[in-house]
Amino acid sequence: MKLFLDTANLAEITEINGWGVLDGVTTNPTLAGKEKRAFADIIREICDEVGGDVSAEVVATDTDGMLREATELAAIADNVVIKLPLTPAGLSACRQLTDRGVKTNVTLCFSAPQAILAAQAGATYVSPFAGRLDDIANDGIALIAEIADIFRIQGYRTEVLAASLRSPQHVAQAAAVGANVATLPAKVFHQMVKHPLTDAGLERFLADWEVYQASLEA
Ligand code: E4P
Repeated sequence: MKLFLDTANLAEITEINGWGVLDGVTTNPTLAGKEKRAFADIIREICDEVGGDVSAEVVATDTDGMLREATELAAIADNVVIKLPLTPAGLSACRQLTDRGVKTNVTLCFSAPQAILAAQAGATYVSPFAGRLDDIANDGIALIAEIADIFRIQGYRTEVLAASLRSPQHVAQAAAVGANVATLPAKVFHQMVKHPLTDAGLERFLADWEVYQASLEA
């Protein structure tokens, strides 16, 4: 499973990219708005930092408008992926961009039938939002499992991008049910790397090393 960072903040991207674990980045209009800078500049800088796929979302709601925005965004860098909403207009734009060889990420997916439509439209990625389903007392990971099963059985090439993941457990569960990609905020990367036994074990090893070195000098 590939790991993407869900942010538009360059400092977070540079930090997590430095860990050597990052395959790409996803952004959305909400995340971009937090940066208070021109969207094209944000995407350009992220693409300079990260070699993998970087999702940039259109905000037009009609197909022609989406295609116009997609053309501008795709011109920023070769690794830009055009993020489109799972609407009839978004599906139509997805099909046209796919036919032109532009990568796409169909977002705001909340059901398996929606995911099938994204695959039929030739999406590179479809993004089911697990956390937002959990928020309304549905089972987000069960949806990711269902979509992964359907895509495997049917041989769809669209990758399942588990989105709206809120915890390390979400990430492990998404991997276990066959998601191709998980996108998560920097906070969850930090939670994933931490374990109290790692900290305690390292402290003990370093203390024992000091005792060992002191014994050699004695
Ligand atoms: C994915 O591409 C979305 O940007 C993101 O995962 C949404 O997460 P949220 O539901 O925590 O806002």
